[in-house]
Amino acid sequence: MGERETWTTRIGFVLAAIGSAVGLGNVWRFPFQTSANGGAAFLIVYLFAVLVIGLPALLAEFVVGRRANTSAIGAFRALGRPAWWVVGATGVFAAFWTLSYYSVIGGWVARYVAGSATGTALAAPEAYFGAVSAGLPAVGAHAVFVLITVGIVALGIEDGIELATTVMVPSIVALLIGLAAFAATLPGASEGYAFFLTPDFGTLAANAVTVLPDAFGQALFSLSLGFGVMITYASYLGADDSLPVDGLTIAVANTFVGVLAGLVVLPLLFAQGVPAGEGGPGAVFVAIPTALAALPGGGLLGRIVGIVFFGVVFIAALSSAISLLEAAVAYLVDSYDLERAPTAVGLGAVVFALGVPSALDTAWLDWFDGIAVTLLLPVAVLSLVTFVGWVLGRDAIAEFRTGSGVAALAPAWLWVLRTVVLLVVVVVVALNLHDLFLTPETGYYVVPEPLR
Ligand code: PFF
Repeated sequence: MGERETWTTRIGFVLAAIGSAVGLGNVWRFPFQTSANGGAAFLIVYLFAVLVIGLPALLAEFVVGRRANTSAIGAFRALGRPAWWVVGATGVFAAFWTLSYYSVIGGWVARYVAGSATGTALAAPEAYFGAVSAGLPAVGAHAVFVLITVGIVALGIEDGIELATTVMVPSIVALLIGLAAFAATLPGASEGYAFFLTPDFGTLAANAVTVLPDAFGQALFSLSLGFGVMITYASYLGADDSLPVDGLTIAVANTFVGVLAGLVVLPLLFAQGVPAGEGGPGAVFVAIPTALAALPGGGLLGRIVGIVFFGVVFIAALSSAISLLEAAVAYLVDSYDLERAPTAVGLGAVVFALGVPSALDTAWLDWFDGIAVTLLLPVAVLSLVTFVGWVLGRDAIAEFRTGSGVAALAPAWLWVLRTVVLLVVVVVVALNLHDLFLTPETGYYVVPEPLR
């Protein structure tokens, strides 16, 4: 095997990690979650979740990856704790599982770029969503999305992932800023901002039991934690980066994009009097086209804004999808000395097959999503935090300090990780397991109703 690849520049790594973090979770879930759960009040909780729980956990993944210099599964042997490989395996399995339905949604988004260009997505939004979201056309679009993801990953770290995300991430930000500026000119903008951001501590407090774990779960998912992705990306790093500085940059950029997305989506909906609804697929895929169709300019303006908006969502989804595939590809390449390109193609084929049920029926997609986000993700994060906090200990501190401009923070970081972060994640896992296994209405052990 040739020499293992590394990122060519530090900013290349940071952009790739931001590309992974910024995804459907930011543009699609975050604005609606915020507006439904207390606006700015929710934002404060979310920021706390990102900085106090997400960031230390992100640094834990970075420490493991950079120190081990190998994939998320091989890392534990490389660190001299081979028995813990299961932690990495759970994560990589979760990445693979998630990619299967994430790319189905990616396929929908691609269809929406096309449907905005032709105008069909705007002419009859509900019918269009029905036609795009399930059945054979969805299987086809899913295949195309997987193929593009495979293509980028097959090209490797420097010529594939780094090159792609260096173009993609700045484009996402620039286009979103453009869209937000446009949205600010719409008549309903201020109402949209008010709905998005007005602090409503009452709503937050009243729903704390469900909102808090949701906010923490969203923070973990949004930072791409638990799936071995950040371990894998950090394994391509040299020793001279400051992990805390890079981690903070990534966490801040990720939240910034979520807020920016809200500044686009909510004024747009309010300007056209479209109810923001509960979020979820309907929000982006039905409400947005409805609002776009109502823009002045005889439909042309709506189509142009639609192409740009869904273009942004597409790029965001793709830059996350490549990280999910890379976690699994890196494992096979590093541990079994396989060639990267055929490995990416082979795994792509399996991901495609696993995603077919989700493409055929959105009930399956919900089910896959539920297992990934409420079960696999928190369990994977919990085991990783336990490992770094309580097993890796001194080695973790040493790695945190390497290249760090804030080496003095290392003991505080480890302390927070093994106490506060661990405790919060335990609570999230417990609440989720309770929902999963003890609440008949929400339990994912129950096959979704329409499938029975
Ligand atoms: N962070 C991505 C999002 O917010 O859409 C989703 C994701 C990507 C989660 C990669 C986990 C991951 F490993």
